[in-house]
Amino acid sequence: MVDLSVEIGNLHLKNPIMPASGTFGPELSNVMDINLLGALVAKSITRDFQPGNPTPRVAETDSGMLNSIGIPSKGIEEFLKTTVREYSNFKSPVVASISAHSEAEFAYMTNALSIEQISAIELNISCPNLEAGGKSFALDSNLTEKVVKVAKNNSKKPIWVKLSPNVTDISEIAIAAENGGADALVVANTLLGMAVDSENFRAVLGTTTGGLSGRAVKPIILRMVKECYHSISIPVIGCGGISNATDVVEFMLVGASAVQVGTVTFEHPAAMETIINDLPIWCKRKNIKRIADVIGAITFPDREISGVMEGIR
Ligand SMILES: Cc1cc2nc3c(=O)[nH]c(=O)nc-3n(C[C@H](O)[C@H](O)[C@H](O)COP(=O)(O)O)c2cc1C
Repeated sequence: MVDLSVEIGNLHLKNPIMPASGTFGPELSNVMDINLLGALVAKSITRDFQPGNPTPRVAETDSGMLNSIGIPSKGIEEFLKTTVREYSNFKSPVVASISAHSEAEFAYMTNALSIEQISAIELNISCPNLEAGGKSFALDSNLTEKVVKVAKNNSKKPIWVKLSPNVTDISEIAIAAENGGADALVVANTLLGMAVDSENFRAVLGTTTGGLSGRAVKPIILRMVKECYHSISIPVIGCGGISNATDVVEFMLVGASAVQVGTVTFEHPAAMETIINDLPIWCKRKNIKRIADVIGAITFPDREISGVMEGIR
């Protein structure tokens, strides 16, 4: 039997597959066995109620989708009362995802979520810091390090930090998150894009721009996972365009310890179960007994070439 288990710090996952925040709900139990999942990542919540963005909030693109859902949230009290209870009915560890507009709000929520039913807290830092002129935490290494430190100091739970891909140098932000005390990184959130309605001379999305996800982003996020893996020593969780078991293996080869699966679920609601069933088939074909052995196992042609060149010289 193939061992699909992986470790994210101290957290043991029976397999590396979990949903990406905002793309999962318990209603998926109508089409798949949720208990098969390595972990359950909830939709991001905010401390207080907020309504989310104006409509239209989604647009289909070539090989992907754009969304500008924002974070419609009933607030943390409601999350603790209802969602946590609902998710705790399943056997997989529950990961809460939080979004906030200040360090103090992040601290308040990481503290409030340090409860038995929550196994880890994911910081969605792709949100404006209203105390830094509205600049997104995730786009600035100083803001990232500070907010992670504050969140970590106010929590008893592992802190996963979800990075934004909308930066020039992702490894700089990854290092900042690690320095702040992150236990793992999720790489990454959506890529900023837009869609145009040429018939009506209008932007399609209610917020004009939105986040691109799905197959279209996979090569970019693979490259970012590789860069993060080589810059830091905490686990990296890959997220972006993963649609099948081969994609999972590709992310693990470049250094992901686990993955999150999002947009493909809208296309094939049982995709995560299919992936979990297909992974051992790939492992058997390659004679791999532990999926964890695949993490970071890629070799790079450019390095091989330079090695050969060194030999020639
Ligand atoms: C409809 C939708 C809602 C999302 N909501 C959230 C969210 O609440 N919090 C978050 O961190 N990411 C959110 N994301 C981003 C996903 O978690 C994920 O990072 C992104 O979609 C890339 O993965 P994918 O290509 O597999 O979808 C959302 C994505 C989509 C498509």
